[in-house]
Amino acid sequence: MTTKIIKLDSLTINKIAAGEVIERPSSVVKELVENSIDADSTEITINIQEGGKKLIEIIDNGNGMSHDDAVLAIQRYSTSKIRTADDLFSIYSLGFRGEALASIVSVAQVEITTKANEDELGTLLSVEGGEIKIDKKTTASNGTRIAVRNLFFNVPVRRKFLKSITTEINHITEFATKLALAYPSISFSLNHNGRSLISAPKGELISQIASIFGNKVAKACISIEKKENNHSITGFITKPEFSRKSKDYMYIFVNKRPIFNKLISDAILQGYGTAIPGDRYPIVFLFLDLPTEEVDVNVHPTKKEIRFSEEPFIFSLVESCVQKSLIDSGLKIFERINDTKIQPTLFKEISKERTVSSKQFPKVIKTKATVEDKTSIRMIKRRDKTIEYFLPEGERKEEEEFHVEKKASIRVIGLIKNTYIIAETEEGLLLCDQHAAHEKINYSKYLNQLENKKISIQKLLAPVSVRLKPSEFQMIEEMKIQLKYYGFDVEIFGKNEILIRSIPSIMGVTISHEVAKDIIDIFKEYNKEIKEKLVLEDLGFIKEIISLFACRRSIKAGDKIPVREAEKLIAELLSLKEPFTCPHGRPTIIILNEKYIEEIFQRDYR
Ligand SMILES: Nc1ncnc2c1ncn2[C@@H]1O[C@H](COP(=O)(O)OP(=O)(O)OP(=O)(O)O)[C@@H](O)[C@H]1O
Ligand SMILES: [Mg+2]
Repeated sequence: MTTKIIKLDSLTINKIAAGEVIERPSSVVKELVENSIDADSTEITINIQEGGKKLIEIIDNGNGMSHDDAVLAIQRYSTSKIRTADDLFSIYSLGFRGEALASIVSVAQVEITTKANEDELGTLLSVEGGEIKIDKKTTASNGTRIAVRNLFFNVPVRRKFLKSITTEINHITEFATKLALAYPSISFSLNHNGRSLISAPKGELISQIASIFGNKVAKACISIEKKENNHSITGFITKPEFSRKSKDYMYIFVNKRPIFNKLISDAILQGYGTAIPGDRYPIVFLFLDLPTEEVDVNVHPTKKEIRFSEEPFIFSLVESCVQKSLIDSGLKIFERINDTKIQPTLFKEISKERTVSSKQFPKVIKTKATVEDKTSIRMIKRRDKTIEYFLPEGERKEEEEFHVEKKASIRVIGLIKNTYIIAETEEGLLLCDQHAAHEKINYSKYLNQLENKKISIQKLLAPVSVRLKPSEFQMIEEMKIQLKYYGFDVEIFGKNEILIRSIPSIMGVTISHEVAKDIIDIFKEYNKEIKEKLVLEDLGFIKEIISLFACRRSIKAGDKIPVREAEKLIAELLSLKEPFTCPHGRPTIIILNEKYIEEIFQRDYR
């Protein structure tokens, strides 16, 4: 009888296993730099070529390896960091699986030069696809140099799926940033194609923050510190006005390991309370030192995930610590109300229940419609005759005629709370949310200019400079042409700094430093979308840019506007093809017709 099953050879096993540990160039950097840190290095240099596709070289001045250790190190499951399974419950080093080097050498051409302090000569190993090609003694300084060339040279499918050089180098830079923050006592430098991206000499955490994020961020830092039993929190948070649109500025470390953890980021946000709007995130550098037995890092092959045994305790520790530091710095903090407590929208209720009672009317004011509700204004009319809206059903042609005809018959009566314009029309009472209306007008203008490739630009009298993280800098530099297409003229201004020279003119004549930072965050967040999608209306990015300006600059809820301007605003809004919802799908105009008003006054005797 023949057998179909064979035992795989170790090279194949390693190649398969490498898939779990080594996803992309940044995983190689992560594994090698973690090894350098575990080897007590005080200086680590990372040299990258072509986003790591061509070369990843890590040079450290750590303990180095003896010849025999170096040969063992590239075997699977060989580690100097744990001895038995019991050690898994108290891990102090970054590595412990003994898998990283074995994985890397099985999928790349690797050269290792290493020398332990006590040895006279070092070792040079050249390994290709897991096979040792050269093994000889060599002169070397103390420490280890590992050069990884042509990653995935023998796994063409994976090589093909590597992302662009920018994406890969961004991952690497972000990772190096996190390690530089976690280990301020180590000098880190990162170079890409010979250009320096990070140079963070050893020092205190705050000096690392200053050298990576700039002095402004460093100056805005509020130090935090709390110790309870064996649990401690240290680091810095920043004042709410430094909040960002992106979560990427929340740096969280547990036992010096950079982590993503929803529990902790939620606790931080809860600590900030309502000091930061729900869609923004603070800049924080938070270090939790927890007993190793309460933290499980052995959950995920790349140690990305982490589990805590005392979740509620950790949550309240972080929340209270953040809150106290903010209060101590002179801020008043109000508790954040959970989003789920927000009332369901009127439109959703209507579409579910298919009837509208007059009792539901007051909820219109609280309406928070979502994008899916775009068509709901018309739906209401179709489903229930008691509320009618401005737009008669039917063809676009009908709409256009209607606008021309009705514009003249709108009489603005006044404003409620400087937020809603009230006007009288032949159809009934018109309520217009002035902020939403203005946002929609700007959105349509901008879209129109983009469609016609005639973007109108405002040159800033005083260009605004923005200091970027090294990873952002790379991306924004690559996106200069796209930025220009959307009306933003950006110039590289020294290391990790850019100047915004012009902005789309619908956004005014000037921008604040905060808005400039938000623009960068938006471009960064939508960089893939901007590069890939061509249909402008589909770009969530444009809505973000417009609402950014609408919130900061165009007419806000609460701004007092003269009647003439209110009339102009409504007329301009109604001249648009789809005037009834703002870019985010919220209503801009609501009309209460005579019949409806009669009904709420119970005059429906006819
Ligand atoms: N830069 C370095 N300096 C000194 N020793 C090193 C260095 N890199 C690796 N080593 C040695 O090689 C061994 C194997 O490294 P490898 O990264 O494969 O496994 P690990 O770090 O023990 O565990 P993990 O797979 O979780 O990273 C390490 O345990 C360490 O003893
Ligand atoms: Mg390791």
